[in-house]
Amino acid sequence: MTDTRPILFFDSGVGGLSVLAPTRALLPQASYVYVADSAGYPYGTRSEAEIAARVPALLGRLAERYRPRLIVIACNTASTIALAAVRAALDLPVVGTVPAIRPAAALSVTRCIGVLGTQATVRQPYVDDLATRFAADCTVIRHGSAELVALAEAELRGMRQPDSAYRAVLAGLYDQTGGERIDVIVNACTHFPLVADRLGAVAPGPVRFVDGGEGIARRVAYLTQGQAWPQSPVPGVAVFTRIDSDTAALAPALLARGLERIESL
Ligand code: DGL
Repeated sequence: MTDTRPILFFDSGVGGLSVLAPTRALLPQASYVYVADSAGYPYGTRSEAEIAARVPALLGRLAERYRPRLIVIACNTASTIALAAVRAALDLPVVGTVPAIRPAAALSVTRCIGVLGTQATVRQPYVDDLATRFAADCTVIRHGSAELVALAEAELRGMRQPDSAYRAVLAGLYDQTGGERIDVIVNACTHFPLVADRLGAVAPGPVRFVDGGEGIARRVAYLTQGQAWPQSPVPGVAVFTRIDSDTAALAPALLARGLERIESL
């Protein structure tokens, strides 16, 4: 028995690579298609209506073209806004990425957690709901940062960004009332785990970062349990909705994550 249907990961840019990596570590035998909606990037500064219209339509096209066995929306912004609509439209399992507020609350000693996401994510009722359900006894301080998304995109293209840029992003959390008590930060945008070391190195105090990558990997493994896989390794494909002059700069980062070929949609 062999089944070559891929697992398809979707994000606006390179952020979803932080979710692909732990999944690939758990399921190395699977074939992978990684899609970056570079023509729609960045999502975090778009309106809810734009995301809600764009993401289900695009995933419909992608499902037809690549026939995946499962889709991972490896983007908090798209998941918190459009996950239900995508699930309703597609007849296959869809795993979303939601801010890891529950594990953060379980870890926090000071009972003060930071949530770092895109502007669109941190204002979602979905986040209010997670905070109420899982962190009711914590102060939850939120900050939306388009800058950090851009920093991660640049780093993955091999352009080292200065410490001061990361310090400025963290100030958005720590400078809020009570911010000095933060001991856990939720990386509520999939781009941010890619630069968590840089953030940790300039944080004003001891802090732990949490994200949903490992949990999603376990969920994908669970949902594909007992399925057949390709008999021999299939090279991963990176798909961009727009290829421009700096897409080629991503090739080493993509290759390091098993994505050997670049295609446009
Ligand atoms: N990586 C995305 C997220 O998890 C969005 C980044 C962006 O396009 O603004 O929210």
